[in-house]
Amino acid sequence: MTFSSWIHLITTVLYAAATVAVAAYYIPRARRESDPTRRLEQAARAMKIYDPFCIAVLGVIIMTGAFSLTAYKEALRERFFEAMGVVLLWKLLATFVLIIFGTYMAFGLGNRLVGRVELGEEPDPKWIDSMLTRIQVVAIVSLVLLAAIVWIATAL
Ligand code: HEM
Repeated sequence: MTFSSWIHLITTVLYAAATVAVAAYYIPRARRESDPTRRLEQAARAMKIYDPFCIAVLGVIIMTGAFSLTAYKEALRERFFEAMGVVLLWKLLATFVLIIFGTYMAFGLGNRLVGRVELGEEPDPKWIDSMLTRIQVVAIVSLVLLAAIVWIATAL
């Protein structure tokens, strides 16, 4: 395995671990807070770290994947598409959908929680609970997509 393949694999594991931690630990822990202000603060504290981390890690996964792909293209030349075309197409399609969910979780949900805390606005318990539910649902969909991508990747 090349250096970029190792980074590709390690960042995949890091992204999976961070997303599982948010869905299975940090959001459930915030939900247990009876005071809405503390519930919002706890969730926002976790997302303030997760948001930039997940965007950076997804970026590194794609860059290292592209590096590895270049090596395959050089080695396989005219046989590249016949050997990897269809599998790669499915992998890139699933990756594209994962990026949409990943950026929505970071910018569309996490950043809004952080913004609400930083603006010091009065938290609406109903809004907080719906945001926490959306974060958990999007995290679970992202993990299912990630599992599908890894499964496709093993065929590569
Ligand atoms: C979030 C998106 C992605 C995930 C989770 C992911 C995951 C993986 C995993 C787990 C492997 C190792 C499979 C094995 O060794 O059996 C792999 C291999 C590979 N991936 Fe990705 N990948 C992603 C995106 C991409 C992208 C966007 C590209 C190309 C632009 C790419 C290109 C490759 C290549 C060429 C290999 C073979 C690497 C080698 O054996 O050296 N991947 N990927």
